[in-house]
Amino acid sequence: MLFLQLLLLAVLLPGGNNKDVVQEDILFRVIQISSFANHSWAQNQGSGWLDELQTHGWDSESGTIIFLHTWSKGNFSSKELVELELLFRVYFSGLTQRIQDCGCQLQFEYPFELQVTAGCELHSGKTTKSFLQVAYQGTDFLSFQNMSWVPSPEGESRAQRVCDVINQYEVIKETVFKLIRNVCPRFVLGLLDAGKMDLQRQVRPEAWLSSSPFHGSSQLLLVCHVSGFYPKPIWVMWMRGEQEHPGSQQGDVMPNVDGTWYLRVILNVDAQEAAGLSCHVRHSSLGDQDIILYWGHQLSMNLIPLAVIVPLILLVVLALWLKKCCSYQNIQRDSSPCFPHCNENCTAQEHRTTE
Ligand SMILES: *[C@@H]1O[C@H](CO)[C@@H](O)[C@H](O)[C@H]1NC(C)=O
Ligand SMILES: *[C@@H]1O[C@H](CO)[C@@H](O)[C@H](O)[C@H]1NC(C)=O
Ligand SMILES: *[C@@H]1O[C@H](CO)[C@@H](O)[C@H](O)[C@H]1NC(C)=O
Repeated sequence: MLFLQLLLLAVLLPGGNNKDVVQEDILFRVIQISSFANHSWAQNQGSGWLDELQTHGWDSESGTIIFLHTWSKGNFSSKELVELELLFRVYFSGLTQRIQDCGCQLQFEYPFELQVTAGCELHSGKTTKSFLQVAYQGTDFLSFQNMSWVPSPEGESRAQRVCDVINQYEVIKETVFKLIRNVCPRFVLGLLDAGKMDLQRQVRPEAWLSSSPFHGSSQLLLVCHVSGFYPKPIWVMWMRGEQEHPGSQQGDVMPNVDGTWYLRVILNVDAQEAAGLSCHVRHSSLGDQDIILYWGHQLSMNLIPLAVIVPLILLVVLALWLKKCCSYQNIQRDSSPCFPHCNENCTAQEHRTTE
């Protein structure tokens, strides 16, 4: 559904950069990070991710799933979720126990870390990939393929030994198979549907320019900042007229804390050639109204503080003058309330002075 909407947007968007704005695949994965300090100390962290958005956490104290969004339960019933939670709880404690008991046999050396990523990928509603991969000390170790555990070349003989052991457990293999091939795609479709308000929201980017001189040379580093947009696909380019500037360098799209995205695109130019350059931003939230910022129009930005300061100074002068007027009044007519008189007089005077 997300795909369909994005496709529709892409069709509506003008220009030849549609491919940059289309998001076709959706990936859901569960990430596990287990740290083993010694024979008696281990810690498990778990989380669920829909592409780059975290949807679930794991409370290892209570052994419960943390649902990070109102829609994080998808369309699964409480019963099914409780069963999954129990499965994860048994898995985490069982895994820790087994490794603590026979870690030496498997020749794991303390301290060590295991990372597991498992999930499925969907392409317009159809499952294209299901996977489970394990890394030991940050290096590929083994994976689950076609109903059996396969060692990675990097895992060497240690991975082979581990696979030989766990391949004997048919129940585990069947459970894993069912989880990644059946439960995962079903859950993701439910998630996409329940979370569509959030996942299909459109948040417009804000854009601004900045620059800095480059290593004391005549070069300028121009930076086009684009922030606060959602969804992630975006197109940002430095242009001269209608021509894309080949020197544009795009950074990584970084997450903001509120779930929106940030991107900067930089350009090194000779200071004299900076005039006439502009930064163009195209995003699904903008329809066909690209944001265009012209370099050099920055000057008007510098005038903004002046436009604020001048009226401020005038206000202060007026206030001081009013105050003076009040004390004068007080001396003149002692206990009389100051302001009514003062205001009358001052506004009258002010009118006179401005005329
Ligand atoms: C095991 O590691 C934990 C965490 O680093 C530490 O606090 C504890 O003292 C260690 N225990 C032993 C028996 O080495
Ligand atoms: C997967 O396993 C099945 C049965 O064990 C076999 O028939 C099939 O060819 C295997 N597929 C691959 C890609 O290895
Ligand atoms: C949830 O939605 C998906 C996709 O629409 C559907 O296949 C599934 O049967 C629904 N219900 C459950 C409990 O998975």
